[in-house]
Amino acid sequence: MFEDFSFFPEAASTVAGRVDAIYLFLVVVTIFFVGLISAALLIFSVRYRRGRGHAPEQVHGSIALEILWSAIPLLIVLFVFGWSAKVFFDVRTVPTEGMEVFVTGKQWMWKLQHPTGHREINSLHVPKGQAVILTMTSEDVIHDFYVPAFRVKQDVVPGMYSQLWFEATKTGTYHLFCAEYCGTKHSQMIGEIVVLEPAAYEAWLAGNPAGRNPVEAGKVLFENLRCATCHAAGSGQRGPDLAGRFGEQVRMRDGQTVIFDENYARQSILEPKSHIVAGFEELMPTYEGQVSEDEILQLIAYIKSLSTGDEEPK
Ligand code: CUA
Repeated sequence: MFEDFSFFPEAASTVAGRVDAIYLFLVVVTIFFVGLISAALLIFSVRYRRGRGHAPEQVHGSIALEILWSAIPLLIVLFVFGWSAKVFFDVRTVPTEGMEVFVTGKQWMWKLQHPTGHREINSLHVPKGQAVILTMTSEDVIHDFYVPAFRVKQDVVPGMYSQLWFEATKTGTYHLFCAEYCGTKHSQMIGEIVVLEPAAYEAWLAGNPAGRNPVEAGKVLFENLRCATCHAAGSGQRGPDLAGRFGEQVRMRDGQTVIFDENYARQSILEPKSHIVAGFEELMPTYEGQVSEDEILQLIAYIKSLSTGDEEPK
């Protein structure tokens, strides 16, 4: 509705309209009260000005008025709180099903990996009408993945994963910005999200060379790094079997339980001593410096596939 109004970016995701509605509501409420208070100020200063003869009667406290001007703003802000909390949770809750894309930010570019093994830099092609889930990390400093047309924005932090999701509702090319100052060329750390009809997206995939998909690439790494030596199921195993564990609660030697998610897997690869699973010894060496952020994401994709049944455990 605001396409021609350049202050408003195009709205092209399932949540964009809902975010805009809150914004518009806040603007309307603000304008209403600014108008009301300014008008009262003007009218009273003219009407009760000195020299006009009739000084106003002094009022000393009014319970009814106090309640009124406390209750009305309270109700308005509670309404805004409830409404925006609902939208916030819906925007932040990553759906369980969707197309998973890995994002690595580095000074000063975005590297993206499709589940099919296609890789892109500063550009991401996605199909319309499908949830896209981004798992993101940084190789150096904090960046921030921001797509104004989708009304989504999330910090991309070194040393951990953050997630963001969107579902595009309109085909087109949309801006991707880095929204966290990250050094000299921060302003050039830009890209585009290209939303295609599902059939056009398939054609795009077919027309572009794909490398190994993340699960296959992870499997190769898993073999080359000899992870299976300790992590394969069987007697005398030195590390926990990884099949079927992703997403589950894992009991640690110190009695804690930890959820086996992307961040847990990443930390276990880089700082294996930080979590020792119950029943195992501190044997695993760190793989810090031997695997890049992209490779850790591939290893995790493979480990995840051992639990989702995309791949048979071996
Ligand atoms: Cu990356 Cu600013």
